[in-house]
Amino acid sequence: MNDTKTLMPVRHVGRKLLNVVPMLLFFSLGFVLGMTSNSKFPNFYMPFVSPLPPPSLPPSPPPLLPPSPPPLSPPPPAPSASPQNQQVGLMRELAPSSVMHNMTDEELLWWASMAPKVRSTPYRRVPKVAFLFLSRGDLPLRPLWEKFFAGHEGLYSIYMHTDPEYTGSPPKDSVFYGRMIPSQKTIWGDATLLAAERRLLANALLDLDNERFALLSESCIPLYNFTTIYVVLTGSNTSFVDSFHTRSRYDTMFADRSNITVAAWRKGAQWFEVDRALAVEVVSDETYFPTFRERCAAVPSCLMDEHYLPTLLSVLRWPRNANRTLTFADWKHRNNGPTHPHKYGAREVTEELVAEIRDGMGRNCTEFRDGASGVCYVFARKFAPDTLEPLLRLAPKVMGFG
Ligand SMILES: *[C@@H]1O[C@H](CO)[C@@H](O)[C@H](O)[C@H]1NC(C)=O
Ligand SMILES: *[C@@H]1O[C@H](CO)[C@@H](O)[C@H](O)[C@H]1NC(C)=O
Ligand SMILES: *[C@@H]1O[C@H](CO)[C@@H](O)[C@H](O)[C@H]1NC(C)=O
Ligand SMILES: *[C@@H]1O[C@H](CO)[C@@H](O)[C@H](O)[C@H]1NC(C)=O
Ligand SMILES: *[C@@H]1O[C@H](CO)[C@@H](O)[C@H](O)[C@H]1NC(C)=O
Ligand SMILES: *[C@@H]1O[C@H](CO)[C@@H](O)[C@H](O)[C@H]1NC(C)=O
Repeated sequence: MNDTKTLMPVRHVGRKLLNVVPMLLFFSLGFVLGMTSNSKFPNFYMPFVSPLPPPSLPPSPPPLLPPSPPPLSPPPPAPSASPQNQQVGLMRELAPSSVMHNMTDEELLWWASMAPKVRSTPYRRVPKVAFLFLSRGDLPLRPLWEKFFAGHEGLYSIYMHTDPEYTGSPPKDSVFYGRMIPSQKTIWGDATLLAAERRLLANALLDLDNERFALLSESCIPLYNFTTIYVVLTGSNTSFVDSFHTRSRYDTMFADRSNITVAAWRKGAQWFEVDRALAVEVVSDETYFPTFRERCAAVPSCLMDEHYLPTLLSVLRWPRNANRTLTFADWKHRNNGPTHPHKYGAREVTEELVAEIRDGMGRNCTEFRDGASGVCYVFARKFAPDTLEPLLRLAPKVMGFG
């Protein structure tokens, strides 16, 4: 599937650049605008994306959370920091006014891949968590998520990638209203899924305050309240991309085309939580992604969604990854075919189940020294649509929201 072929004019990027140019002049002391005559694109160094956090300097100090019971967390920074300096105006100027746009994938990825050269940010910002939903249409568990997000405006942003044939919309008063990004058809186990993940990341990167990026499916649920999950994600200095060594599904074409050796080959669940630096890296990858796409064109149900991201991190020798995901799935009690984890139905949803998942289902998570401070999981899947009612009932008591 070619993800660069919805041909639309470059108008959006052009308009953005027009917006940016006066800013560039205004802040001309702070950075360099370099243009080389024979490169395809100008090199912009702009102060409009948050600086890539150096490894020793997480966006906010990592909280020390007890593994269980659910961590008591300091309140997150006030969502609506009153504008203390004029640069807030700059940020408003550069922030996308809506998630809808007319960019092609090629334009979108290019625009999203820009990162600042200047390391310090000239404005005060509150880091946001971007929740990236891969869904066919409306989220079956949307009411649960709405209760989860309620009262935390300014600390999160939502992006939905749906089937392009879905023309419905959540109600106007929902936090999901108007959060659908321009989407394309995806096929299970296919490279179109990878393209959708990159598209979600790229759209979320356009909001300069997004610092952490979590990929979620329509069957995912939060295991804690917003505050707790926010603190775990923004307080961590690592990304959470599941990754382990395997030979499974490796093919010599990866060596031939992209110099990916079997030693560098990795596998892992695709439900990730990454930081901004890694998100920029993923949308900028022009070296490896085409080979994965080619692989999927040759092999139906190639399942490269379980290999692309961990392998990319491996070949990049990415230094800050926990090599595990914060999204639980039960592969031990499969009731859903060999290639899907267990799908929970209404009758299985109990306080004990949530407690068991939080405890890691036998995994000792205090052993992970990865910035999640002993927390095993913050999200879980797969929950059938009929679990909505019992989950809404449990949420106030067990998850601490609703
Ligand atoms: C979130 O949960 C934690 C612990 O589970 C609790 O201390 C905190 O008060 C909750 N926050 C809100 C806003 O309910
Ligand atoms: C996209 O393009 C169409 C047709 O040119 C236009 O009507 C629409 O407003 C554009 N949408 C955005 C979000 O720019
Ligand atoms: C291919 O990968 C190997 C091992 O990582 C490395 O030593 C070599 O320089 C790479 N070759 C190219 C052409 O990138
Ligand atoms: C994750 O795996 C890589 C090798 O693939 C390793 O270098 C790194 O130390 C691991 N990270 C953690 C936190 O274990
Ligand atoms: C889990 O691991 C930690 C650190 O290694 C250890 O102190 C603790 O006793 C372990 N807990 C269990 C239940 O095994
Ligand atoms: C990341 O944070 C953990 C504690 O949460 C700390 O032990 C570790 O040294 C930090 N790593 C880096 C590279 O800053």
